Amino acid sequence: MVIKNAKQLKGELEVPGDKSISHRAVMFGSLSEGITEITHFLQGADCLSTISCFSDMGIEIVNQTASNKVIVRGKGLRGLKRPSGVLDVGNSGTTMRLMSGILSGQSFDSVMTGDESIQRRPMDRVIAPLSQMEADIKSLTGDGRAPLKIRGKETSLKGILYESPVASAQIKSAILLAGLYADRPTSVTEPYVSRNHTELMLKRLGAEIIINNTTASILPEPKLKGDKIEVPGDISSAAYFIAAGLLVPNSELVIKNVGINPTRDGIIKVCEQMGADISLDNIRNTDTEAIADIIVRSTSLKGTIVGGELIPTLIDEIPVIAVMACFAKGTTIIKDAAELKVKESNRIDVMVQNLTLMGANVTATEDGMIIEGGNGLKGTSIESKADHRIAMSFAIAGLLSEGDTEILGAECVNISYPNFYADLNGLIQG
Ligand code: S3P
Repeated sequence: MVIKNAKQLKGELEVPGDKSISHRAVMFGSLSEGITEITHFLQGADCLSTISCFSDMGIEIVNQTASNKVIVRGKGLRGLKRPSGVLDVGNSGTTMRLMSGILSGQSFDSVMTGDESIQRRPMDRVIAPLSQMEADIKSLTGDGRAPLKIRGKETSLKGILYESPVASAQIKSAILLAGLYADRPTSVTEPYVSRNHTELMLKRLGAEIIINNTTASILPEPKLKGDKIEVPGDISSAAYFIAAGLLVPNSELVIKNVGINPTRDGIIKVCEQMGADISLDNIRNTDTEAIADIIVRSTSLKGTIVGGELIPTLIDEIPVIAVMACFAKGTTIIKDAAELKVKESNRIDVMVQNLTLMGANVTATEDGMIIEGGNGLKGTSIESKADHRIAMSFAIAGLLSEGDTEILGAECVNISYPNFYADLNGLIQG
């Protein structure tokens, strides 16, 4: 994919459904009784992997791709069937980690694997707490990575209070989901609150969830009941257009129906810190999640510090924040973000290497990066490393660069945003 410097962006768009919420709607709908009707479902490869895993476990799921509607005929907490083969999560960490929790509570054996990237990512972070719950789950490679083998259990898991060393919604969700099958309440305490879509959606479907500061607790064996779930637009996808609308000159963009859950809206806060002209309109609630239209206009940005409790609320937006920082006046420091190293790629290394190739002044640190803004970027050839967020971040960098930018492995955007390039093209003026 070749991206050219853009003179102006204008228009309105609606980004696809939230990836985290689309996954959860299929999973929790499968564990509920009756029909769950999901609208604005994300037709990205990751969420399709979740559908195929639950179909493999006997759940009837109809995906009406033309209207992004998915109907799940749930069978309750004990309705899943033993899959006939290995469950393939593709590239999806969310599918593997959340399913680890669910499968730990089943009476049948299962094996889960995925693509090359998934097989490199740490799964010991869910294996350890689930083992404390007396789940029989192990890494078949013996080094805490996929494939994972889970042995079925006839007895309940043991409810625990787990103190998670990292703020991770995937870890928290795996434990809370295993807690559905436990003998007593299960709690997870995090250093900072990570995205809370699991808690909100399970509660809506009938689970008893208690929140106390950074601790989420769940009571076992609820009767979950299927319902309608409207998936908000994905703020992580909106982030690319937020950045582009702020940085391409003379631009104004309206991004409609975006989820603005406070555990996900760090990108908006960082834009404000950087002095951006960004505002929210039409703020409203779906049954579980807040949504709004986001309006951005071109602004000269200034450098900022991004760290601490803000990090889990924008973890997937850090690559595009790093691009923004290259065009901001002064220094931007991104810290407390060591989690970036264990995403679809090592996002600290890959961002620093690629931005350096484009002429940026950027240094990797142990837990983030430091960017001196104001030098601009020059187009060149960029490796996406099969990481969708890297490809999309450099597409935005390309709009802002002198000369052409070539993204190698550009098709990985299919993971979370199949129409990304077309949507971007639709906004370019002149
Ligand atoms: C996700 C949680 C985050 C995020 C990922 C989706 C989720 O990962 O990076 O893209 O849906 O729960 P961690 O929980 O590992 O931080």
